[in-house]
Amino acid sequence: MAKFTATATALLMLPAVLAAGQTPGLFSSYVSLSIELIGFPQWAGTKDNRNEFSNNLIDNLVKAQESPLVVRVGGNSADRAIFDASLTTPTAGSCKNADPGAWQCIGPSFFDSYGALPAGTRYSHGFNLATWNSSGFNTLRETVPLACRALRGQLAYFEVGNEPDLYIGSRRPQDYSVAQYVSEWSNATARFEAYLREACPDLVVAASDSNSNSNSNSNNNNIKYMFPSVSSPRSKLRVPDIISAANAAAGGHDDDASIRRVTQVSVHNYMGGATQPGVTLQATLMNHTAVAASIGRHVAYAASIGGLTPADYVIGEHNSLYGGGAAGLSDVFGAALWGMEFSLCAASTGVIKRLHFHQSVGSPYAAWSPVAPLQTKPPYYGKLAAGTFLAGADGIQVKTLALGGDADDGSDISSSSGSDKDVDSAYGAYINGELRRLAVLNLREHDDGSASATQGSRRRGSKKHTIRVAPRSNWVVKRLTAPGARDRGNITFNGFAYEAASNGKPVRVAGRTTDERVRADGRGGVSVTVADSEAVVMIRT
Ligand SMILES: *[C@@H]1O[C@H](CO)[C@@H](O)[C@H](O)[C@H]1NC(C)=O
Ligand SMILES: *[C@@H]1O[C@H](CO)[C@@H](O)[C@H](O)[C@H]1NC(C)=O
Ligand SMILES: *[C@@H]1O[C@H](CO)[C@@H](O)[C@H](O)[C@H]1NC(C)=O
Ligand SMILES: *[C@@H]1O[C@H](CO)[C@@H](O)[C@H](O)[C@H]1NC(C)=O
Repeated sequence: MAKFTATATALLMLPAVLAAGQTPGLFSSYVSLSIELIGFPQWAGTKDNRNEFSNNLIDNLVKAQESPLVVRVGGNSADRAIFDASLTTPTAGSCKNADPGAWQCIGPSFFDSYGALPAGTRYSHGFNLATWNSSGFNTLRETVPLACRALRGQLAYFEVGNEPDLYIGSRRPQDYSVAQYVSEWSNATARFEAYLREACPDLVVAASDSNSNSNSNSNNNNIKYMFPSVSSPRSKLRVPDIISAANAAAGGHDDDASIRRVTQVSVHNYMGGATQPGVTLQATLMNHTAVAASIGRHVAYAASIGGLTPADYVIGEHNSLYGGGAAGLSDVFGAALWGMEFSLCAASTGVIKRLHFHQSVGSPYAAWSPVAPLQTKPPYYGKLAAGTFLAGADGIQVKTLALGGDADDGSDISSSSGSDKDVDSAYGAYINGELRRLAVLNLREHDDGSASATQGSRRRGSKKHTIRVAPRSNWVVKRLTAPGARDRGNITFNGFAYEAASNGKPVRVAGRTTDERVRADGRGGVSVTVADSEAVVMIRT
């Protein structure tokens, strides 16, 4: 963290340096989604009968971020899904006509769900790589035409295979290697591209290049892949080795190899496992040090591949705890604070270009339940707060602000006594080099007692911070709050709830503040008080 601290301090004192030396580089809609493929029809509905609750909740995220989301449809089930042309439902738990051994199946109507989320949404579709037999191969051949027609005009990327490092010892032998994976991926993408060229040639060649034969690469220049979607930076199949092997196979001269069409290097992330011993709300999720360490592994990983590919680095699937999350940790207000903290910390690296929060129906870490009983879950509110701070992400720069009483940050932020780098966290967003937004998180766990039988009701502490900004500048404070870290309801962002009762549309909640106004003093000190288990986004007006 020392690196971030020093940078933040320098930038706050010399904001002009930012404008002169650096260009903004995040992708818009930084807070995007990943949806487990087999449940995607439940999240989206169909174009003719869209899921209005999901649409309204996504609309709120789009408004906050000032740009449509990119929805990656994939995950483990993409690598299990077998296509059965005779299925009358979008998905099924068996499809004996296609493969008696299959237990996750999709039919032609699965693809009616693309286009059912708000207009402007762009999608990534994940194809099955793990099922390396005749029914897997048939699935690719038969779904490419359906997928490409459904995705025309709203396509972001294709993905072939999910978490191949976890194939080792399950879908593949114990000695499954980088070389074998790269050979399988190259084989599958070659078949994929041949099917695509046949079914949707317009998706293969960009319209503007169809008359140009200036180089062989233009033949396929409209295809974009997310790759290799390993489970974490600790993947046994290392991404630098994967990309080096794919580059070597392409021979340095084959401009038409599929590795050349990888525009997103995707690596997944989880803070820990749902049933992993020692995982707690305070130590694992509501903890800036733990979040920064988790994100730091991606920054190091991205640096290790920087010279091997021009592709951008994204976290293509992530959430709090793998295994769907843990009840009592991933589905409480503390997880909303974690999601906000994770998003801002990732954005501050400048290297991680976008996040895709993973969703699956019924999982504790889901942001909402798209099927009866419809329910907005706490993590949704963290995404809304993060999206508000990160609005127009392609035009901002995010920096951590040093809290915690380090000797060198006194000129930027002075806090009431006892700031602690684990639980006090703050960020600045710069537009054209000017500090325009602030976020301050107080990650101390406060349990209000009503949500937990074991915790008695306690007095809620708070932290007052004074941050150095432009003298006499005016700020609007939007508060992410709830009675306590373990609550599953009564959550608001800027005084509004977005619950199922209003079908996900904003409702003003009595007794909660909206657009609090504060003003910096003549020396540029702006003060804000943040209760334990609470966060604020501050926008300069
Ligand atoms: C293909 O492999 C999957 C498991 O990866 C299995 O469930 C299925 O039955 C197999 N199908 C055939 C035709 O071998
Ligand atoms: C892909 O691998 C399969 C099975 O090994 C093989 O039959 C096929 O010819 C390969 N296809 C390509 C395009 O390399
Ligand atoms: C926060 O995480 C760090 C790193 O895992 C750990 O050393 C520290 O004890 C945690 N802090 C709290 C308050 O749990
Ligand atoms: C919201 O607060 C009310 C009043 O304290 C309480 O009765 C209710 O159970 C809370 N709802 C949730 C979902 O926690």
